Amino acid sequence: MSSANGNNKKLAVLVSGSGTNLQAIIDAIKNGDLQNTEIKIVISSKKDAYALKRAETAGINNVFLDPLKFKDRYEYDQELVKVVNSCNVDLIVLAGYVKILTNIFVSTFKHKIINIHPALLPNFGGKGMYGEIVHEAVLKSGAKESGCTVHFVTEEVDAGPIIGQKRVPVIKGDTVETLSKRILEQEHKLLVESINKVLGKTIYDL
Ligand code: GRF
Repeated sequence: MSSANGNNKKLAVLVSGSGTNLQAIIDAIKNGDLQNTEIKIVISSKKDAYALKRAETAGINNVFLDPLKFKDRYEYDQELVKVVNSCNVDLIVLAGYVKILTNIFVSTFKHKIINIHPALLPNFGGKGMYGEIVHEAVLKSGAKESGCTVHFVTEEVDAGPIIGQKRVPVIKGDTVETLSKRILEQEHKLLVESINKVLGKTIYDL
């Protein structure tokens, strides 16, 4: 029914990897945890990202935007702005997207971009802190807990206003694999909760 679709909140999801966070959004829309919401497009910076297959299986429009086709990250982001703008979305979700966004993109979609990070920001975040590197740093630090954070994206990496966090214990003998698995389970819940919280609100309502 076009009227129902017309009222749907529209998402663009940017990915680079396995896409389990994307899958969490897809599943939440299917099981009603995310109401009146649709993913308009999935954009990947990596051709072999399994996230693209997840989008395809779910019948969601998806595209690989090849960084090698662009002179630099600024030209890349100019194209990324065009693609996202064409979908007229309400919220942009970085779900395992590994490229650092330039101000061209961030300033165009101010307060409409959220990111999920696999640690308790502001700790263990910032340039170069992603994926397994984060968990290695947490284990090396002897921290007794870790977790995940969803935050608004600003020009500074991992430094935007925090929307939500979930905590997990670091257990004696944890490896990067065991810790990242425990956190990833919480990421999937936190991301859906955060999208619900942000949709229809501005940063000032939160
Ligand atoms: C997650 O750990 C997320 O926190 C980080 O990259 C990983 C992506 O996982 N940004 P997936 O591609 O969503 O499975």
